[in-house]
Amino acid sequence: MLFKRLLATAAKSVQGPVLQDVVIIGGGPAGLSLLAALKSSSITRNLKCTLVEGSSLEGIREFADSPPEEYTNRVVSLTPKSVEFMQSKIGNWEFMNQDRIKFYNNIIAYDSQDRTSRIVFDGSAIEAGFLAVMAENVNIQSSLLQRISQLKEEGVDSTILDNTKVLSIGSALKEAEAASESTNIMSENVATASDWPIVNLSDGSSIQTRLLVGADGFNSPVRKYAGIQSRGWAYDRFGVVATVKLQYEDYRSIGWQRFLTTGPLAILPLTEDNATIVWSSTPELSEILIACDEQIFPELVNAAMTLDEVSLNFIYAKLKKNPNDFSVLDDIPWRQSRLKVNDLEENYPLPVTEVVPGSRARFPLKLSHADTYTSARIALVGDAAHTVHPLAGQGLNMGQGDVQALVEAIEKGVTRGMDIGSTLVLEPYTSNQWPGNHVLMGVCDKLHKIFSTDWYPIVFLRGFGMKNLNMLDFVKDMMIKNISGR
Ligand SMILES: Cc1cc2nc3c(=O)[nH]c(=O)nc-3n(C[C@H](O)[C@H](O)[C@H](O)COP(=O)(O)OP(=O)(O)OC[C@H]3O[C@@H](n4cnc5c(N)ncnc54)[C@H](O)[C@@H]3O)c2cc1C
Ligand SMILES: *[C@@H]1O[C@H](CO)[C@@H](O)[C@H](O)[C@H]1NC(C)=O
Ligand SMILES: *[C@@H]1O[C@H](CO)[C@@H](O)[C@H](O)[C@H]1NC(C)=O
Ligand SMILES: *[C@@H]1O[C@H](CO)[C@@H](O)[C@H](O)[C@H]1NC(C)=O
Repeated sequence: MLFKRLLATAAKSVQGPVLQDVVIIGGGPAGLSLLAALKSSSITRNLKCTLVEGSSLEGIREFADSPPEEYTNRVVSLTPKSVEFMQSKIGNWEFMNQDRIKFYNNIIAYDSQDRTSRIVFDGSAIEAGFLAVMAENVNIQSSLLQRISQLKEEGVDSTILDNTKVLSIGSALKEAEAASESTNIMSENVATASDWPIVNLSDGSSIQTRLLVGADGFNSPVRKYAGIQSRGWAYDRFGVVATVKLQYEDYRSIGWQRFLTTGPLAILPLTEDNATIVWSSTPELSEILIACDEQIFPELVNAAMTLDEVSLNFIYAKLKKNPNDFSVLDDIPWRQSRLKVNDLEENYPLPVTEVVPGSRARFPLKLSHADTYTSARIALVGDAAHTVHPLAGQGLNMGQGDVQALVEAIEKGVTRGMDIGSTLVLEPYTSNQWPGNHVLMGVCDKLHKIFSTDWYPIVFLRGFGMKNLNMLDFVKDMMIKNISGR
């Protein structure tokens, strides 16, 4: 009865919800990848798909024709597995601005408390022939938008609504259930009501969808609507990012990561003399890193890549009092002069000479994992499903894995003529993707914990492990497999 009434109102009202097969909330890397992947697959391309993004995508559209001169500060390291997915399944790779990506082959990880211990991750051991590619988030998103446009030109249609926020999500079934509690409607009547979620948008329209995908980031409104729990904790650490210039172009193409007790600091190569920095740090240190003068910041990076913790604490203490205490510009080279010149040249990254003005930013770091990625008519992908410490550069890559697994599940459902919003179709996505992500998140978390301590036995073990590749052999094996996605 209720259902008939709903149908009648929908038919009468011009403003009744538009019906879609898939509605994706979120136009970040995960959401755009999913839309482009669904439209690229010959099996799923006929599904009616709409993507809703709260902010404007204009800046990302402009990137294609007029990219900014300097690298933007949101840069990620893509694994060979993600690149292969973009090349062969999504088809966006050819639209990436190829002058603004950087393949690299090695990561050298070393320790602030034991000069002699190092781990070298060597990508040439991997089938793909490279360890990872550095790319700006905006470059990835831009390439996905271009791929979606190309598909439209080929007649494969989809809708993107940007500048459009999701205000609320509900379903006739949920409303009927609520009503039945107060008015005692028989449950058989309720069962005939549609369980398709209805998404109310800020432009006044609403969409009713067979499958609702949350690609809506850490605070995921879709996850909350579905009542899916997300567990985890904040690290009490911030990731400070910046675009920097090196002394000259480093033809070695190496990523460097030093484990400090405040958190790891990575310098990752971009083209020519450009590089990007991710510096996980305590709230206090992150404030200094953001506040200090543009002349001081590069020297701080150089100090943190080379000096011992005692020296670093001395410098931080000065800057805590005054983030523009220029006397540290004398302290740092003096303290570095105690290192051997050829040791510095061979075993450390090139000095950073400049920070690109305005490129410094900080993000709170947290670990969280949703209990499941699916429920009836719902799927979660990307940061909506999980957030992870950036020390292994895995966040966006995990999202690519999610998209790949979800598309495979939907393809199977379509092929078998099933309802793609049913748990039967969606469940394999969770069971294929969740356990691997969980292991990877555990590895990143344990690495963070092992390294952010100066408690003597752990420091000793850690140094021992790095030198003898005992304890950390396992970690290295895990990391190289996971960093490369193989
Ligand atoms: C310092 C740092 C370094 C990192 N380095 C790496 C790295 O090297 N490698 C890597 O793989 N990953 C890295 N990551 C992680 C990576 O950036 C994220 O995992 C990735 O950007 C998440 O993409 P997403 O599409 O899932 O979510 P998001 O990019 O958060 O997109 C979610 C979108 O949903 C939209 N949205 C939310 N709510 C609504 C609503 N109500 N209505 C409409 N739209 C809505 C938002 O506007 C947003 O655009 C790093 C992260 C940090 C913080
Ligand atoms: C990288 O650095 C070089 C030289 O400093 C510069 O000319 C180039 O434009 C930079 N690349 C990007 C994409 O910013
Ligand atoms: C969505 O909007 C419609 C009409 O504006 C309203 O009746 C409905 O209650 C809204 N749904 C939710 C879940 O807020
Ligand atoms: C990471 O490595 C573990 C162990 O080898 C594996 O189970 C997991 O699937 C890997 N995750 C990814 C994303 O490659």
